[in-house]
Amino acid sequence: MLKVVVIDSDTGSWTALRRTVIEGHATAVAEYETVSEAFLTIASHRPDLAVVEVTDDAAATDVATASAIERLTRTLPETAIVASGPIHSAEFVIQVMRAGAVEYLRRPIEAKDLSAALAKVGRTRRGITPEVRSCHTTAVFSPTGGVGVTTLAITLAMVLADKSTRRVLLLELDTRPSDVMTFLDISPPYSVADAIRNIDRMDESYIQGVVVKYDNGLSVLTAPHGVEPGPFEGERVQMMLEILRAHFDHIVIDCRHDYDTGTLAALDAAETLLLLSAPNVGSIRSAAAALSAFRQTGIDASKVKAVISRERTGVHVDAKHVKQTVGLPLFWATPNDYASTVSAINNGRPLTAAAPRSKLMVSVRGLAEKLAAMGKPSASKSKPSLLRRLSWK
Ligand SMILES: Nc1ncnc2c1ncn2[C@@H]1O[C@H](COP(=O)(O)OP(=O)(O)O)[C@@H](O)[C@H]1O
Ligand SMILES: [Mg+2]
Repeated sequence: MLKVVVIDSDTGSWTALRRTVIEGHATAVAEYETVSEAFLTIASHRPDLAVVEVTDDAAATDVATASAIERLTRTLPETAIVASGPIHSAEFVIQVMRAGAVEYLRRPIEAKDLSAALAKVGRTRRGITPEVRSCHTTAVFSPTGGVGVTTLAITLAMVLADKSTRRVLLLELDTRPSDVMTFLDISPPYSVADAIRNIDRMDESYIQGVVVKYDNGLSVLTAPHGVEPGPFEGERVQMMLEILRAHFDHIVIDCRHDYDTGTLAALDAAETLLLLSAPNVGSIRSAAAALSAFRQTGIDASKVKAVISRERTGVHVDAKHVKQTVGLPLFWATPNDYASTVSAINNGRPLTAAAPRSKLMVSVRGLAEKLAAMGKPSASKSKPSLLRRLSWK
């Protein structure tokens, strides 16, 4: 049983919550009307979960502000904090999440949203790691198209979803018509453009509504059916990723082949950046230019891993050339496996299902293992972020 404390000025609301939801899943060990009152004794209850009403009025003392959430996180390092508030701006929600909340529920709290939050905390508590926010984001990028970014992103996400019970999201971050839809033969009603437009509504139930679940449990959020009128704003992409990070354990991003601010924000947010190039001089030079563009925009180059796609299709281009031109050791090379990839695309099935024993599948499984073995680089990134370093309008 999870031990829950509730800090909420509306006693009626938490009494109702306790009756309808908490009973059976958890026990309410303490209830407080004000956050100042809670600070006096809350630590003695050693709760697993605290459901806390929040406000964006920074001067408030009775209702928790983002800084009160930060203080609660410090006071209760083992406790998962679920914030509940009215529909605030996305900036406020992110502030609260950064302060340490694992979830933001809109008020009035709906039973199903609280149940989902409780289930999530329960999962974490049963796991071996007490770390609550442990999402790892892998961005797959190539400065030019046709190199195999989408193929690799889909296959890697499928492998990750197949081999674990972790929640994996494949995110196709593009404003142009989706390729992932074609590759997987799916036609989702919503796209990443809807998520970015509705960022203020992105709670657990909205996210579950906007993604589609593939057969193996992989969540997929594709690019739109048509062309979006403008590029995605970097700031909104960053916000979306911050929110998604609280809901998934691994996010694989199929990036567009461009240096637009939305793509740069995703590359900045990722913990691992797979920089793909084809084994030819032009593509490797583009990869070298990409790496210097990352450095210029302040993207951490140490997370960039050079990957050659379709190894041995190029003549005399190998790891040595990558090292010399890009300045990075070759991290991985995928084999040229045209027959399997084209048959997978033509059948609208991922390689994991269409050609599970193909050369490319063996290679991507190896890549997934190598990535997992690297461990998780710290999720805490030094601020200011790229977004602040770039000059936004
Ligand atoms: N490892 C590979 N071997 C052979 N063909 C590949 C490989 N990866 C991708 N392809 C093929 O290359 C084409 C472009 O792949 P895609 O994944 O759409 O690239 P991108 O997203 O970089 O534009 C597709 O026809 C795909 O089947
Ligand atoms: Mg693509």
